[in-house]
Amino acid sequence: MTKPHAEGDTPLELSVPEMRALLDAVRDRVVGHVASLPLQPAADVAGGAELARALFEPEPPEGGTLAAELLDLLFDQAIPKSFNTAGPGYLAYIPGGGVFASAVADLISGVANRYVGVWQAAPALVQLETNVVRWLCGIVGLPAGSGGYLATGGSLASFTAVVAARREKLPPDFLKGTLYASDQTHHAVTKAASLAGFPAENVRSIPSDREFRVRVDILAERIAVDRAAGFTPFFICGNAGTTNTGAVDDLDALADLAARERLWMHVDAAYGGFFLLTERGRKAMGGVGRADSVVLDPHKGLFLPYGAGALLVRDAQSLRRAHAAGADYLPHMQEEPGFVDTCEISPELSRSFRGLKVWLPLKLHGLGAFRRSLDEKLDLALHAARELAAMPGIEIVAGPQLSIVAFRLVREGLDEEALNGLNRGLLERVNARQRVHLSGTVLRGAFVLRICVLSFRTHLERLDEGLEDLRAAIAES
Ligand SMILES: Cc1ncc(COP(=O)(O)O)c(C=O)c1O
Repeated sequence: MTKPHAEGDTPLELSVPEMRALLDAVRDRVVGHVASLPLQPAADVAGGAELARALFEPEPPEGGTLAAELLDLLFDQAIPKSFNTAGPGYLAYIPGGGVFASAVADLISGVANRYVGVWQAAPALVQLETNVVRWLCGIVGLPAGSGGYLATGGSLASFTAVVAARREKLPPDFLKGTLYASDQTHHAVTKAASLAGFPAENVRSIPSDREFRVRVDILAERIAVDRAAGFTPFFICGNAGTTNTGAVDDLDALADLAARERLWMHVDAAYGGFFLLTERGRKAMGGVGRADSVVLDPHKGLFLPYGAGALLVRDAQSLRRAHAAGADYLPHMQEEPGFVDTCEISPELSRSFRGLKVWLPLKLHGLGAFRRSLDEKLDLALHAARELAAMPGIEIVAGPQLSIVAFRLVREGLDEEALNGLNRGLLERVNARQRVHLSGTVLRGAFVLRICVLSFRTHLERLDEGLEDLRAAIAES
């Protein structure tokens, strides 16, 4: 175990035995943590605020602390007081999971600490990341000439997409540009538009149908109205799996409309995109490969730890045109098409070696392992929907288009407000049992509960436990 160093030492460079000791200590903690994930509560933040206050530390420490103490703080105190987003019972929001090999890749990336923002500094490592981007383009069905980059997540990737589209479709004075997305679109897209300089009112929220898919007819009408009023429609966002219900828009119809109107077609597949690895997912998301840009998040559908999103574009050069910015102190940027300088196609210069956290698990386990797990998630969501449909008083508000089902408890004689209260209470009661953690949302004014199955650690047994808890909570409601 490493000791705090006395003044005058050079403690930042650990000796070989010290490195081993630190890694051994971390290894024991990490392996123990992963092994205990199924036994940990699905979420436990009771007392979290008090703990956070107790951890308030106004000044940085001048001296060091024993590693054992710091690991105790992390693993015994801070980590347990959180949503167990890596555990099998996490069915809230959009689960990720945290494939172990990806965390190991992060350690290797940090230790090697090579510079992957420019190709010349680490050509072979950049190639590994380029391979990953190519594989993702293939999964989505983008043609030769496509490309992209790995972002920190879907939000940054969406921002980059809007900036690229703005650059391709609008003049430098772009404030007449209008963007279109359904009322179910993730707020990352509206935020991206705002960050890219568009006032909120330039983003048109288009109503969705009974299955929460964008009304393409209304969208087309709105585009015509906007053109007549002197606006320049330029960006349509289609959803390949909304956060609320997993709804998939009619992407082929959107692609036709975009082609007719010469608009940039973007698809937010941050949640749903990796279901393209399955036959059912490919069927549901037909047309996605016709998009100009697609966001998909390996930290969602590939079950990786947070910090891996992807933006893929039909024309790789569109990213370069939006982001290339040279400087005398930089090395030469590459001209050969296969060699990518990530700083030329993304907002970042110095960056972590994100590619490795995707590459290592894909190489180690093979795509088939992910494909099978994703298929299992689709099956589990169907199972949940069937079980829910058989529960008296439960109304399925959105059946699974992918791996999300939204539902609520209905009682005769209650108005909408009372029903919303009833369902908020139901959610609290299910979550209080701590075997599963669900989240809620509002669909057309109605508060609903959601089950989102996306962790590779969630299997039938845990889902059934959650459904059992739900039945018990309904009985108490
Ligand atoms: C459909 C969709 N788009 C975009 C995002 C934003 O992605 P991130 O949280 O990785 O920034 C999310 C996040 O849940 C999402 O579900």
